[in-house]
Amino acid sequence: MSGEPTHARPCIPRSGADARKNLKLSVLSHPNLTIGEKPCPADETVSALREVSRQLSQAREHFLGFPGNMAFDDSDSGHLLATLANNVGDPDSEDASGMHTKDFEREVIAWFTELAQGDPGTTYGYVTSGGSEGVTFGLYVGREQFEHAPLYASSQAHYSVRKASELLRMRLVSVPCGPDGTMDAEALGALCRTQRREDAAAGRPPRGAVVLATAGTTMGGAFDDVPALREAAGAAGPCYVHCDAALGGIVAAFSSPRPPWNFRDGADSVSVSGHKFLGAPVPCGIVLARRSLLPSSPVGEYVGTRDHTLACSRSGLATVLLWKRLRQLGTSGLRDLVHRCQDTAEYAKSSLTAVGARPQRQPHALTVTFDRPPEEVRRRWRLSVEGERAQLIAMPHVTRRVIDELCADWSPAGERLPLPPCRVVTARNERAHRPGPAAAQYGTG
Ligand SMILES: Cc1ncc(COP(=O)(O)O)c(C=O)c1O
Repeated sequence: MSGEPTHARPCIPRSGADARKNLKLSVLSHPNLTIGEKPCPADETVSALREVSRQLSQAREHFLGFPGNMAFDDSDSGHLLATLANNVGDPDSEDASGMHTKDFEREVIAWFTELAQGDPGTTYGYVTSGGSEGVTFGLYVGREQFEHAPLYASSQAHYSVRKASELLRMRLVSVPCGPDGTMDAEALGALCRTQRREDAAAGRPPRGAVVLATAGTTMGGAFDDVPALREAAGAAGPCYVHCDAALGGIVAAFSSPRPPWNFRDGADSVSVSGHKFLGAPVPCGIVLARRSLLPSSPVGEYVGTRDHTLACSRSGLATVLLWKRLRQLGTSGLRDLVHRCQDTAEYAKSSLTAVGARPQRQPHALTVTFDRPPEEVRRRWRLSVEGERAQLIAMPHVTRRVIDELCADWSPAGERLPLPPCRVVTARNERAHRPGPAAAQYGTG
């Protein structure tokens, strides 16, 4: 810092261009949020927090197009905000600070290991900052196994997969999808056979394959067939499969018949988001991997812990709130919730059929896609859109009454385009692999 005097920034609203710029960036309208040189009076600060909380709570009533569960209220856990809870390093390793909630984390991991049919003795896991960190961790473990293997992911994989491939410097190979939006196992097999021939021609050992399967694609909610993908990828030599089950893992676990998504089905690692189906006031997730495949872990001497995680410091608060949700619901409560949401999705499909919105729903999915409505309807219901199709996701806060209201609002946006086979694989979808506009189009996870 220079010795120059700093200019006091009083706690008054900015005017003109600055204020307009802020408004454009924000979905919500906030009171003055300026951080000034002088302390702002506590009542002004608290009232800004009350206002944002009021606006967010109001907005959730119309939150239909994104996979966040809004049906929870953790305000009785506010006392946790009076302390730091930092789960540094592995959940099963103490740390020198002792300011953590790792007992709760181990319970969450044990519960999810059972759900994902992992072996409790040989499965490692931790609570992440969200689904994307889980994907990155899984792919990192895969890359450490097979250093030169390309990463195969479908054209419907979440955009975080491309980011992870770039960070990990893995060559990303986009595999086409079938008409239902799942990765085409035959196409994967053909790509892997070609790779094996190239390896043989170059006189090098098979590089193998890292495959990213998705349980519940972001747009459309399709479930990739993990065993079929594992078998197809075997053509490349040894392979590693990560299942990105951000939204669909918990749905799959309680579906009947159960879409194959977990360790018993051939995954080496799996990840879910915590704030999606389960619901949490802070983004979070869980990742699991076969312990024997973990890269060797650095130990931070000063924190006194083993650490295989990507993050080092991790939210002990998110962990406790995840534990609270699971404990309150119990496995049977969660099963009921999944079934109720699937019923709501089916109800949405028949109601949208009745108003001519041409809905489609993949087996088991909470996601229903339909013809894109006019912009004001899309905005009102916060629908996510891709091309001429929109989607809603029947998360636990979505009721039949809300679906009825949406249907009453629905009217076609304009000229009807031919109905896609189920999911159309278009150049637009291929572009979803590239960072930038595709990410922006989908918006928030
Ligand atoms: C399939 C899939 N994977 C990963 C993510 C990213 O999860 P998160 O937003 O928790 O990082 C999403 C988000 O919607 C998703 O749909």
